[in-house]
Amino acid sequence: MSSDQSSIVAEGFTDTASDYDDAVRFNIGGAQRLIISIPAGQYDDVIDIGCGTGWATQALVDRFHPARITGVDPSEGMLEQFQMKVGSIEGIDITLAQGDVEHMPVTDGTFDLAICSMAYHWFPNKWDAAKAMARVLKPGGVLAILCSGRGGEQIYRDILANTEPMNYTWLGAFDAVQRDIPEMEDYLLQAGLDVNDIWMERRVRHTTVEAYMERMRVVAGHLIGDQSEGDVAEYMARVEKNMHEACGPRGWTYDFTKLYAIARKPS
Ligand SMILES: C[S@@+](CC[C@H](N)C(=O)[O-])C[C@H]1O[C@@H](n2cnc3c(N)ncnc32)[C@H](O)[C@@H]1O
Repeated sequence: MSSDQSSIVAEGFTDTASDYDDAVRFNIGGAQRLIISIPAGQYDDVIDIGCGTGWATQALVDRFHPARITGVDPSEGMLEQFQMKVGSIEGIDITLAQGDVEHMPVTDGTFDLAICSMAYHWFPNKWDAAKAMARVLKPGGVLAILCSGRGGEQIYRDILANTEPMNYTWLGAFDAVQRDIPEMEDYLLQAGLDVNDIWMERRVRHTTVEAYMERMRVVAGHLIGDQSEGDVAEYMARVEKNMHEACGPRGWTYDFTKLYAIARKPS
C-alpha cells in the first residue's frame, strides 16, 4: 500500500477525531448489528482494525467481554479517542497499536476474533488488507467486517456529476470505496477464509444538508487533498445549493448501503 495514501487518510481522521461521534452517531447501530451477527463463542483475544473512536469495541465488550482487545488505527487522534472510550473498562486489557491494516504491529495467528467496522472501504489495497486480517487470526478465528456497500448515496453522486467544475476525486471516491457482495466474497476466499455470511443493508435516511455535509467533512475530509480552501468553499457552496434544490418534504433524503461479512479461518 502507498504509505502516503495511508498517512493522508490517517491525518484526515486525526483532524476530525473529536467530532466523529457526533457527526456519525447513526453508525453505532451498524456496529451493534455487526457484533450481534458474530457466531456465539469464547473470544479472549480480539483485534479491532481501523478501531476509530471505539464504537464497535464498545458493542463487542457488551456482548462478549473478552480478556484482551487490541485497537489498531493509523490515526493518532482516533487512538486517543479509543483510549478515552474503552481504555478503562474493568477486567479487559486494552492495547493500542498505531499502524495501517497491512502493517499491523501485532503477532500473526494470535487473535480469536478480528472486527473491522466502517474502515475496510478506506483501505486502498482491499485484497492485501483481507489477507492481512486473515493472517492475524488463530486457526478457527472469526473475521467480522462492516463497510460501505455499492449503490448508496446515488443522489449525492448525481449532484456531484452535475456540479461544475467537475471534481473527479470526489466522484471517483464512491467507486473506490463501495463494494458489493460478490467482491467481498472474493476478497475473503482469496485470503483463505471460509465465508459464513455476507449481506447488504439498504436504509433510507432523512437529514439536513448541513448534517450530511458535516458527516462528509468528518469521514472524508482527507479527500480534499491539496485544493485551496477558497476553491473548496466555492465548490461546496455550489454543491449545497444543488442539494437544497433536491430536498423533498422530509429534507435531504438518501439511501445508505452497508455491507456486512462474517468469515472464519479454517482450523
Ligand atoms: C469511519 S472510521 C470507523 C471507526 C470505527 N471502527 C467505527 O466503527 O466507528 C474509519 C477508521 O479507519 C481508519 N483507517 C483508515 N485507513 C486505514 C488503514 N489503511 N488501516 C487501518 N485503519 C485505517 C481511520 O483512521 C478511521 O479511524
